[in-house]
Amino acid sequence: MGTIVVVGAQWGDEGKGKVTDILAEKADMVVRFQGGNNAGHTIVIGEETYKLHLIPSGILNSGKVCVLGGGMVVDPKVLLEEMKGLEDRGIDTSSIVISDRAHVIMPYHRRLDGLEEEKRTKKIGTTRRGIGPCYFDKVSRIGIRMGEIIREREFSQKLENALQVKNELFEKVYGVKAMEFKEIFHEYREYANLLQEKVADASLLINQAVQENKDILFEGAQGAMLDIDYGTYPYVTSSNTLSGTVCLGAGLGPTRIEKVVGIIKAYTTRVGEGPFPTELHGEQAHAIREAGGEYGTTTGRPRRTGWLDTVVLRQAHRLNGLTHGVITKLDVLSGISPLKICTGYRVEGQLIEEWPVSQEVLDQAEPVYEEMEGWSQDVSKIDSYEDFPPQARDYVNRISELTGIEISLVSVGPRRDQTKIIKNIDF
Ligand code: IMP
Repeated sequence: MGTIVVVGAQWGDEGKGKVTDILAEKADMVVRFQGGNNAGHTIVIGEETYKLHLIPSGILNSGKVCVLGGGMVVDPKVLLEEMKGLEDRGIDTSSIVISDRAHVIMPYHRRLDGLEEEKRTKKIGTTRRGIGPCYFDKVSRIGIRMGEIIREREFSQKLENALQVKNELFEKVYGVKAMEFKEIFHEYREYANLLQEKVADASLLINQAVQENKDILFEGAQGAMLDIDYGTYPYVTSSNTLSGTVCLGAGLGPTRIEKVVGIIKAYTTRVGEGPFPTELHGEQAHAIREAGGEYGTTTGRPRRTGWLDTVVLRQAHRLNGLTHGVITKLDVLSGISPLKICTGYRVEGQLIEEWPVSQEVLDQAEPVYEEMEGWSQDVSKIDSYEDFPPQARDYVNRISELTGIEISLVSVGPRRDQTKIIKNIDF
């Protein structure tokens, strides 16, 4: 298997959790490298459903080292709750390692996420988990890292410094009460005591594992179109979500990455605000949302739904350097005919085949569609890909042709056995 990165090719929620869970079976180590508990992965094993926000999906396969990398932002309260939830269900969490470089989400980050969102005239629709404000502090150089909260004196100084800045904001800009140092300090010292054994130089561990030819899976969160640099800015998350982020977020060189797997939902969804040229409304949007269970794992918000957009996928392929693609939720499209695939946009009579940077251009973008015949059989119940209706296989082939992505697997249901191999790959 070597080193494999799994990333979302659209706006997140493509079903990465299921794919990483399957790949994690073969891995020795599973690493998350960006984002925080804005992510939500749903994994179904037998009769059990697990929802993970911070802990890598590998935790559900016993004996895997599960690393929260240095590029992440970690809410220790959420992490401890997630660990407890897993332990209560008999899952061992002793293999979790937290990078000492990961930034800590503090109570003032969560509070600011809400206040900032309310103040915006054009909402982003954040998850309000404090992700943006935490990354903001990181680049403002007043953030607090995991390796620092476990050192009492250092933490005290850092918190005092950061809280002074935040309280000025709370009182003078937002007109709300300042936050108490003492309360936060004691709460976080308690978390630090509970987590300190897990805090380590994760980059060292990961590179050591690479040296020993261990199999390592890097688990992305969100998707290419939510990337802070290349996504639908400003309607994006606050971290880089592309495969290259592994290098910095896990602390290893680019020459160490062997494969990059892009997860593609068979149609498109997004939560929160922002451009979505192929968005559907009304009856058809509702039908796909219900059939696909398209409600956010983290916030429960209904996801916006639409046709598959190959402009988005070509960009995701280019930016991530995908070596393989996995199509998920193909079963959700059973019974819908015709199906539409967006191949480009028309703007003032001109055909655009690449994602435009300007919001003004996007506002005028009319999707150009190819229509394909759908299929009526329930593909979630068919054992082998060869026995899928020809229309379903044509749909998969057409995605590959239009995007240049080699599709290796198709998923047609939440269970592990509902994943069909198209091309044998040495995962
Ligand atoms: P934030 O990451 O909470 O700051 O939210 C910024 C944008 O990214 C919002 O539109 C969120 O809905 C979206 N977002 C963040 N994480 C995820 C995810 O895991 N899946 C889908 N959308 C996400």
